[in-house]
Amino acid sequence: MKKHIAVIAGDGIGPDIINEAVQTLEKVASLYGHEFEFEYLLAGGASIDEYGVPLTDETLERARSADSVLLGAVGGPKWDKMEGKLRPEKALLGLRSGLGLFCNLRPALMYKALEDASPLKSSIIGDGIDIMIVRELTGGIYFGEKTLASDSSWASDLMKYSVEEIDRIARKAFDAAMKRRRKVTSVDKANVLETSRLWRKVVTEVAKDYPEVELNHMYVDNAAMQLVRNPMQFDVIVTENMFGDILSDEASMITGSIGMLSSASLGSGRRGMYEPIHGSAPDIAGKDIANPIATILSAASMLRYSFDMDAEAEAIENAVEDVINAGWRTFDIARDGEGHIGTKEMGEKIREMMK
Ligand code: IPM
Ligand code: MG
Repeated sequence: MKKHIAVIAGDGIGPDIINEAVQTLEKVASLYGHEFEFEYLLAGGASIDEYGVPLTDETLERARSADSVLLGAVGGPKWDKMEGKLRPEKALLGLRSGLGLFCNLRPALMYKALEDASPLKSSIIGDGIDIMIVRELTGGIYFGEKTLASDSSWASDLMKYSVEEIDRIARKAFDAAMKRRRKVTSVDKANVLETSRLWRKVVTEVAKDYPEVELNHMYVDNAAMQLVRNPMQFDVIVTENMFGDILSDEASMITGSIGMLSSASLGSGRRGMYEPIHGSAPDIAGKDIANPIATILSAASMLRYSFDMDAEAEAIENAVEDVINAGWRTFDIARDGEGHIGTKEMGEKIREMMK
């Protein structure tokens, strides 16, 4: 199969980790007889430096014409003083909305061999954490009207959701649950927010189409607490944009594998954007230290969700597990005093392990 992949390395460690993911995709291409054509695009700080804006129309257009987008990470202290619409993060938001990627899948998965890295007690993590956070990505307070009074004496961000926006993300969550343990927890703040009351009503309606899936509702403050109190109760969590942002950071941390977790942003078609959930870690950029696994696993998700290449995706995922089980570690997942390998070597180990 021939596929055109837009590659946005971004800032900080972006280029280090993207390089390993691209080489891993090349290995897949040669093992399985595919042809991947990579088109490199600039976004975030790199784009600000080159074009003066975090995302140009041309870049968005090219991303739109690709079969999928692979992204490293954007942002860094160099651009922290830019005003709101010129910040590197704007590139992410522009890509998400410009590509219609309303559904963000963020798996919080614990690797058995890395269990020690979790800050939770082993009595709480039981057999291991495996939660799928389904975050709404193109609506809510992130995209509602933003206002700053002319004298800067007040500001507001509008949180708005339509029935259609809630309905389509709820269906993605129930679809995901059908392939997992068939439980959906919908997280909202329906005791306070009107958007949350509508959210609850629509999710309850959608649940009727999935009689095999158990649905429960939880307030977001309680959900934040339950994630550390009893994470094993969760299978799929579906929630609005900002709650999902916050809870997915929390969920990733309790797995202890922040450098290992991938994400997929999907729309109604096949095109998606795939990126690690961690940031651009500018302090370790270019030093061959960063863990490339989250990005390599994001590439695997691309093969699965956008290209229907399940066997190829599994080949990567199994290789990652084998490498971890064999004891290879980058510094972020190594125990104190334990030896570790660099970004490139980790990429190579994974590619060697692939059959
Ligand atoms: C994320 C990030 C982004 C978000 C930022 C960088 C805009 O935190 O992908 O979770 O808030 O969505
Ligand atoms: Mg975030």
